[in-house]
Formats: sequence, C-alpha cells, structure tokens
Amino acid sequence: MQYITLDTETDFDGWRKAARTLVLHHMAPADVTWAVQGGEAELFAPPAPSPILEVNEGTFSVSAKFIELAKAAILHRDGERFAILYRLLWRLKDNHDLIEVATDTDVALVTAMARAVHRDEHKMHAFVRFREIGRERAAHYVAWFEPEHHIVELAAPFFARRFADMPWSILTPDLCAHWDGHALSFTPGVSKNEAPSEDRLEETWRRYYASIFNPARLKVKAMQAEMPKKYWRNLPEASIIKPLIEDAERMTGAMIANAPTDPHKPQKRPEASMTRKHAANVLDALREEAAHCRACPLYKDATQTVFGEGPKSATIMLVGEQPGDKEDLAGRPFVGPAGQMLDRALEEAGVDRKKVYVTNAVKHFKFVPRGKIRLHQKPNTSEIRACRQWYEREVSVIQPDLVVAMGATAAQSVFGKITPIGKTRGRLIDLADGRKALVTVHPSYLLRLPDPEAKVQEYQRFVEDLTIAAGVQKKSAHAA
Ligand code: URA
Repeated sequence: MQYITLDTETDFDGWRKAARTLVLHHMAPADVTWAVQGGEAELFAPPAPSPILEVNEGTFSVSAKFIELAKAAILHRDGERFAILYRLLWRLKDNHDLIEVATDTDVALVTAMARAVHRDEHKMHAFVRFREIGRERAAHYVAWFEPEHHIVELAAPFFARRFADMPWSILTPDLCAHWDGHALSFTPGVSKNEAPSEDRLEETWRRYYASIFNPARLKVKAMQAEMPKKYWRNLPEASIIKPLIEDAERMTGAMIANAPTDPHKPQKRPEASMTRKHAANVLDALREEAAHCRACPLYKDATQTVFGEGPKSATIMLVGEQPGDKEDLAGRPFVGPAGQMLDRALEEAGVDRKKVYVTNAVKHFKFVPRGKIRLHQKPNTSEIRACRQWYEREVSVIQPDLVVAMGATAAQSVFGKITPIGKTRGRLIDLADGRKALVTVHPSYLLRLPDPEAKVQEYQRFVEDLTIAAGVQKKSAHAA
C-alpha cells in the first residue's frame, strides 16, 4: 500500500507528480491511499506515510483534455477526488480514447466534478459583494464568501483584473485572497465573524438592484437557479428581493384579474404545450452550457454570460450588440438605460414586449476599466463569430418568424457577414432559413446622439422600424 500526502487541498502539481510515479511503478489504484496534510483522511494514514517512490525510467502521455478536466476536478470538495482521478489516469494509460466516452463512470464522475467547480467559480464571480472598511485613501474592500469547492485561487485573478485599482480581500472559511493593487496573495481561511457586515455601500447596492428589477421579466425559478438562496444572506440586495417579488406577483395578479375574457379564444392544444415544454428544457440546457463558454477571451473579465430571455413561443427575436455594465452585473439583457429606451419604443410601436425574446450577438460584456467605471468596447469580428453559435442555437429553439437586428454587430451576427445598416434598414429581408430579418439602429446610438432634435427624429424612425415588427407579431398571432 502507498500513502500519498499532498501539501494542500488544491495541490494539483503534487498529485500529478505522485500519480505519474505511481503509474510508472504499476501501482494499482486499489493499493494507493490519498490524503492532504492536516486533513481528515491523514488521520487514517500510518504515522509515517510511505515515502514517495523514486521516479522510474519510462514515460507515458495523457491528453490535454484529461489535464484540463483534472485541474478543475481536483478543486472539488469530494474527499475521493484524488483516488477517482488516479483511477481514471490508470485506465487512460492503456486506452487514450476512453476520455471521449462520456458514459464511462469515471469520465462522467470527473466531468461532473469539473462542471460543479466551474459553476461554483461562476457563482463566486457573480455574488461576491465588497464592503468598504476605512475611508478614502485608507479604504479597503472586504467580502465574505462561502464557496462550495476549493475555488478561491481559481477565482481570485478575475477580481484582480476587475477591481485592479482598489485593495481588496475576499475572506472564506478555506482560504483568503488579497489584492494590494499589484499582486495577489493568500492566507488561511477565517470564520465569518471576522468579515464586516454593514457599511455605506449597502444602501447604494440596494437602490441599484431595485432600479434594475423589472417585474415584467420576473421568473422566480430562473432567478433562484442563478442566485441560489444560500448566497442571499451575504448580498446587500437580499433584504429587498422578497418584497420585490411579492410586489411583482401582486401586480401580475391584478393584471390577470382585470384582463378582458374572450369566449372564442381557442383552448391551448396539448401537443403545442408539450413542444413548448421541450423547448424550455433545451433553452435551459443551452443557458447552462453558455454560462461556461470559453470560446473567446471575453469571459475572463466579464462577471457572467448574459444569455437571452423571453417566452419560448416568441415570434419575434430582438438582437442587440452585447450586455452593458448593468446587464453584466444583473445577468440579464437590456436592463440598463438602452433597455429602458427599447421598452419605451416597443410600447409606442405596439410590440408586446412580454411576447418577445431578447438576446445579444455577443454574450459577455467587453470593456476597459477607467478608474471605477467600465467603458464599453465594441466586440471585434472574431468575438462575434465565436459567439454566433449561441445566437444560432437560440434561433433553432425559439423558431421566431422575425429577427430584429439592432445595430451593426447584431446585423453581422444575423446575416453571418458585415452588413451596412444604412442600406438594409427598415424593411423585411428574407433570410436563407425562411425567416424574415429587420435591421434597425441600436438604442444606445439614440442615447449617444448629442443634438436633441436629431435625437427626437432618430427615435421616431426607430419606432417606425419597430412598427414593422409589430405588424409581423400581430400577423403571427392571427395565424397561430
Ligand atoms: N446593449 C446591448 O446591446 N445589449 C444589452 O443587453 C444592453 C445594452
């Protein structure tokens, strides 16, 4: 029996070195026990763990895919992970292609662990809230977070890039990460009562959250899936989530109670609702997959993937450019100033906003930091191309009759090539897949126009373009 003691819970290099040596010594997985220094499993190891074997002559290689999976899976909190990874490595030695067999028990286990780790990393990026301690020059920002897995070292570089100008610490029970404006450092974990709980930033957060909360787009289940309740207690906005939801439900109830009834309205066909249910599942799976997208570098600095939203039965799909600052934080498209302008224009044009699916050509926020502000940057062609798969998959699930491209980036994604807006704007265009497309300007363009008169005129043109979409929506509703 070989007892291997790793230096830390996240000691991938130690595991890799030991695993390689064990394989070269033909040490079967059943004959190896793994522990971490100071960890629980170490208690069961003999007083003097067997010395690690000397590196043998000989060599073997494993695929980059296994290394990538193993680097993530080793951060999982499951105490068996080192042994599971070694068992898979042992089997891969004689069967390289095994890593492609998704149904194999070990491959599935390791893949699921890696996924859970990335999900947790994503949650940490989205739900860490800093609190200010000290004032002005002496200000330091501190956050408390309880990760499910050992992800602090993995997630910390994101915060260093994102909050490069401010000194911060993220305290967790496992490990604490610190940034002094130049370098990251780590210290042992602490208990929650060492983290500050109230400060003057709290109220700002609460007001901000209330301002981006849109009752018309409320989906409690989706919201809880993205922001599980266990994170709520550490979020300043948590105290207003419940009242906001109750308020929204009350308003919806009143709207339904006051809605005119139509005795001739046909009953919903059962097969139609089945199809919708299937579409809902596929869309949820897509959203989950997109949350881990690494197809271009934009995921590195953005808070999260901002996927499209709206009913699966939508006959119109609106496509914007990319999420802005507010969308990046909220995780939902068009909730900031451009979204408010869009909502107003849709209403004036007679488009029923609740029946529209809204998405973006690029699903991560691209920006450059300027002090505390994040300045929007236009996505380039390779980023638009890398993200197009998500747009195409959204179209194939939603099956809209009309796609409205707002701005040049959206048009490039919808038509699959650079498409000048001036030449295509304001008329229905046939797409190769039988759908129609409508090109118009992006609402942010209207917000940026300096001349008030031009602003009014351009806004009117925008509403006129959307009136064409309203016509399609009505026609589709009629045909249904
Ligand atoms: N601009 C966009 O293109 N999309 C958003 O979601 C917000 C602003």
